[in-house]
Amino acid sequence: MDSFKNYLFLWLFIILTWNTAGADGFTPLGRFRQSSALVGNKLYFFGSSFIVQSRDNIILDVTLSTLNTSNPLWFLSNSSVPTNSAFASACVGGPYKNMIYLLEHLNTTNDVSNNIIVYALDTISGTWSIPIMSGTIPVSRQQFQAINDANGKIYMFGGFMSPNSGSVLNDINILDTFSLTWIQGSNASAPTSRADFSATLLKNGLILYLGGGDNINMADIDPRSGHTAVLSPDGHVIIYGGSKNNATLDQSQQIASLDTTLNPYKWSVKSMIGNNVPPPLVFHSATIVENFMILAFGQKGVNNAFGSNNLNSQLYILDTRNYVWITSTNTSTNSPSPQNPSVTQIQTVIASNSNSLSTGVIVTIPIISIVLIAIAGFIGYWLFKKNERDDIVRIAGSKNTG
Ligand SMILES: *[C@@H]1O[C@H](CO)[C@@H](O)[C@H](O)[C@H]1NC(C)=O
Ligand SMILES: *[C@@H]1O[C@H](CO)[C@@H](O)[C@H](O)[C@H]1NC(C)=O
Ligand SMILES: *[C@@H]1O[C@H](CO)[C@@H](O)[C@H](O)[C@H]1NC(C)=O
Ligand SMILES: *[C@@H]1O[C@H](CO)[C@@H](O)[C@H](O)[C@H]1NC(C)=O
Ligand SMILES: *[C@@H]1O[C@H](CO)[C@@H](O)[C@H](O)[C@H]1NC(C)=O
Ligand SMILES: *[C@@H]1O[C@H](CO)[C@@H](O)[C@H](O)[C@H]1NC(C)=O
Repeated sequence: MDSFKNYLFLWLFIILTWNTAGADGFTPLGRFRQSSALVGNKLYFFGSSFIVQSRDNIILDVTLSTLNTSNPLWFLSNSSVPTNSAFASACVGGPYKNMIYLLEHLNTTNDVSNNIIVYALDTISGTWSIPIMSGTIPVSRQQFQAINDANGKIYMFGGFMSPNSGSVLNDINILDTFSLTWIQGSNASAPTSRADFSATLLKNGLILYLGGGDNINMADIDPRSGHTAVLSPDGHVIIYGGSKNNATLDQSQQIASLDTTLNPYKWSVKSMIGNNVPPPLVFHSATIVENFMILAFGQKGVNNAFGSNNLNSQLYILDTRNYVWITSTNTSTNSPSPQNPSVTQIQTVIASNSNSLSTGVIVTIPIISIVLIAIAGFIGYWLFKKNERDDIVRIAGSKNTG
């Protein structure tokens, strides 16, 4: 009997240890204005608008064979963010693409810094540092989306200037994470000043800036800010959510897709279909992992308004091949066609063909090209309408010469 009891206790112990070792039994509460970055199969979230969550470093295991919306594998990292983080942007860089750079406006005593502070997380050791940067350190800012390429460069555009948050910026600064140097980009032909826009790197090396600010026209779809935009492996920029004048967008326009394989690029609004359809969201995170877009956190639109009292704590997963919302990425149950396991993606950067990506970036960067396409208002829209062929290429060309 005693040995049977011991046997039971042993199993109880094993089961408890197993559970603890698995997910720490940890499920994060809803939050918004966190930043996020993907390294390997670990999706990192930093901070929140709520002070108590603002140093949270939360990790989601996005291994596609096990990822599902009912029981996601969450971990609370003990490497907390060294400052109260919100409104910031996180990017991947370093020679081994295992460093995360958090671009912040607060110093370690939570005072607003005049210049951007870069907090670096070594994802192997789990340690944070503040690397010394050379070059012209840009003015600090918030509510911007910086984006990294596959060659260790981080592109930071716009946002609200933090020491004087009335000012909205439209400058471009590039952080080379190999040499830890800031380089000022050209302001010529830059998009207008904006915050809460999205930035998406296309395979040809162009960065697409969409929306942001109040009423910035998005051509064929509703204007919005606080939305997300990711690039699918088949060249579609998928935007989700956002708000328009603090009202929920028309539900029929929650998700839209810009086909960048066409010339001119073409918008299509998608219907919300599937088993686990998300609510309207703003200030959420979106990440592409192979063919899947993963949404997390953010404010939910309720009664046609967003607020900090309705927060999302669920995961939502979109299959970008058919725009169906799914509950599991187990490819043997979901996918009609086999996956390409060699595709590696870093945050919103598609690195499926790193040669063509780097070529595009190398061609683009020396001339420091920032291209605001479509959505940035009537110019893009007008050009789209006016010229039927090669519009985008010509817009890019003219920006490049600036
Ligand atoms: C994925 O789905 C297949 C088919 O239903 C199942 O056999 C397999 O166990 C699932 N894998 C995981 C990791 O759940
Ligand atoms: C969901 O994911 C968890 C964690 O990987 C796993 O333990 C569980 O079996 C999965 N559930 C389903 C229905 O696939
Ligand atoms: C953090 O967690 C890791 C592994 O989970 C452990 O090795 C390390 O000692 C912990 N550090 C602290 C400061 O608790
Ligand atoms: C943060 O900035 C404030 C205001 O400039 C300054 O007083 C404080 O010493 C700074 N803290 C650190 C750790 O640098
Ligand atoms: C771009 O404009 C900002 C201010 O808006 C300025 O600080 C920066 O020096 C300008 N960049 C260049 C390359 O002139
Ligand atoms: C809408 O306004 C409320 C109250 O001012 C604010 O808390 C919330 O963050 C705003 N939401 C958006 C999406 O701007």
